[in-house]
Amino acid sequence: MNSILLRTYLRTRSTTGTPASTFNLFRSTHTASVWSKVPQGPPDAILGITEAYKADTYADKINLGVGAYRDDNGKPYVLPSVKEAEFRLLEQLLDKEYAGISGVPAFTKLAALLAYSPDSSAIKENRLVITQSISGTGALRIGGEFLAKWYPHGRTIYVPNPTWANHGAVFRDSGLEVKSYRYYDKDTISLDLPGLLEDLSSAPEKSIILLHACAHNPTGVDPTPAQWREISKVAKDKGHFIFFDMAYQGFASGDADKDAFALRYFVEQGHQLVLAQSFAKNMGLYGERVGAFSLVVESADERKRVDSQLKIIVRPLYSNPPIHGARIAAEILGDKDLNFKWLSEVKTMADRIIEMRALLKNKLEQLGSKKNWSHITSQIGMFCYTGLTPEQVDTLKDKHSVYLTRDGRISVAGITSTNVGRLAEAIHDVTK
Ligand SMILES: Cc1ncc(COP(=O)(O)O)c(C=O)c1O
Repeated sequence: MNSILLRTYLRTRSTTGTPASTFNLFRSTHTASVWSKVPQGPPDAILGITEAYKADTYADKINLGVGAYRDDNGKPYVLPSVKEAEFRLLEQLLDKEYAGISGVPAFTKLAALLAYSPDSSAIKENRLVITQSISGTGALRIGGEFLAKWYPHGRTIYVPNPTWANHGAVFRDSGLEVKSYRYYDKDTISLDLPGLLEDLSSAPEKSIILLHACAHNPTGVDPTPAQWREISKVAKDKGHFIFFDMAYQGFASGDADKDAFALRYFVEQGHQLVLAQSFAKNMGLYGERVGAFSLVVESADERKRVDSQLKIIVRPLYSNPPIHGARIAAEILGDKDLNFKWLSEVKTMADRIIEMRALLKNKLEQLGSKKNWSHITSQIGMFCYTGLTPEQVDTLKDKHSVYLTRDGRISVAGITSTNVGRLAEAIHDVTK
């Protein structure tokens, strides 16, 4: 109570003799909070699953919601190459000065080489603009902002249906309108190529099209190289502008070059595209927030102008990006031995995921499931779109303490050789 209030209180008390009037006094001076009209927002679907999983006391509960790699003991995994890079950085006793607006130059140079390859015409002809970003999400946001500001042929971006849950919000908040194109066929649990091509053909010319470069999230369904060629052709014929989101390079097949096929093919075909890269999954640098946004341009002069505008977008957003994770990635990508070691670790992670897919499918078949589970192994990357209905997902949670998103997506990284048997039994139970 401040001194004026206290004095008024004492005066009131002496006349009325009742301390209750104090509360009226407080009420009359205490106005409603400035935030009293802020409505409750919906919880994040995936974080909500983790909360429910944590609250479950069953010892053998299984969390298949989380989009981060786990080892065969279900534990987070720090790559040995990352540890080694960190030791090397420590030994160098580097300072902690700000990076420039575009980030750590050694990192962005190497990130571009990893994605596009040293043979890319865009690299050889110096036709690439790149800026470090706050992981893949930040790269998508910078890209969205740049296109909303400078793309001369409209403000609409087409994303696949379904797509990563955050795409809509990122692009809408960037100032773009978000529409979708058909991608996934529920009946065949595979790519709806005719629907996809038809939707790209009927979209207005020069539309912006978002493509997942590999390991499509959430379906795990990727086009084959032949299908990518068809997609490229339709997009080229319509003059569409391609925005690649590559959050899983190397993590899908275990081979970083193979996973970059679509991106590199589109560049070769002359698409003037943009790319969002993330090092969260393939280097396990989730919380370090390491990523990059790049654009293929036509000339050195254009490169300079575009680069200046990227800086103008980044500067008021976060001024300049964090340095530690970018230094780790640069150390790995820039050292022949460490790079080799990292590539083999990426393969180990990808192989474990592929092995868990096969195990789950086999177990379901051994249990006598009559359903066709071939999509579990034909899909790729961290996620598997099981085809389970929202009701089946609810039963899995309530009866078996197995947690996943209601669209039936499971994070295969959450499966281990210990829990796969119980998981198969639970899935069989809700699908027979
Ligand atoms: C398709 C896709 N794009 C982008 C991201 C961005 O991730 P981050 O911001 O952690 O790099 C993710 C992460 O799950 C993703 O699945």
